Amino acid sequence: MTLPEHVAIIMDGNGRWAQKRMLPRLAGHRAGMKRMIALADHIFSCDIRCLTIFALSTENLGRPREELEGLFDLFREYFTEYAAKLGKGGVSLRVIGDLSLVPEDVARLAKESERETAGHDRFLLLAIGYGGRRDIVRAANAVVASGCALTEDSLASALSTGGMPALDLLIRTGKEQRLSNFLLFEAAYAELVFSEKLFPDFTDKDFDRALRGYAGRDRRFGKIHSDQPCKR
Ligand code: FPP
Repeated sequence: MTLPEHVAIIMDGNGRWAQKRMLPRLAGHRAGMKRMIALADHIFSCDIRCLTIFALSTENLGRPREELEGLFDLFREYFTEYAAKLGKGGVSLRVIGDLSLVPEDVARLAKESERETAGHDRFLLLAIGYGGRRDIVRAANAVVASGCALTEDSLASALSTGGMPALDLLIRTGKEQRLSNFLLFEAAYAELVFSEKLFPDFTDKDFDRALRGYAGRDRRFGKIHSDQPCKR
């Protein structure tokens, strides 16, 4: 089966999962985090080299203070209790996004986790304070400031996903069918899978189904197959 090298997940639907159970939204985020920790283990066990998770967008930072404080607590917990396990499992954690937008101690813990898990050839990219447009503008400015020509390749390398395999498969849970400012440049030729399930209900088997769907896709990258000659 053809496997993707780089998978990205938009973990949408935590809030609705909690509301359906008459629980506070944060209970949904906690369930989402736990599910993501287990799912990431499963994904790396499937021989996938790079996983990017959309955990907090620049737009999400406009949510009510109470929800944001709860999310920052979950990030603190993730970095202190789970990140080291990634390193032990041969996965390097990298945080993509603008860490100046989150509390200083969260940014510090993120950097510590990056250092602790460095040096492996499999990657978990955690997007926090991330916006696709913002990342493109930052990367373009960095290329221009370096004096290099601004090309598709130089821009791709300067993005926060620079050096990672091309994005092959993007999965969004929670019914909505949009990118919501995630990996805008990188998703140009990614295969998209939208799941109706709310993220905490998205199982390893659902992921396996998405992988089988991906393997069956005809990826032509805008070209045609060579066994289909164009007769005039
Ligand atoms: C989307 O659901 C989820 C978020 C905006 C936050 C996700 C982040 C975490 C759970 C923090 C920790 C996670 C990791 C992996 C370290 P939503 O709130 O938009 O759901 P809704 O559309 O049902 O309201």
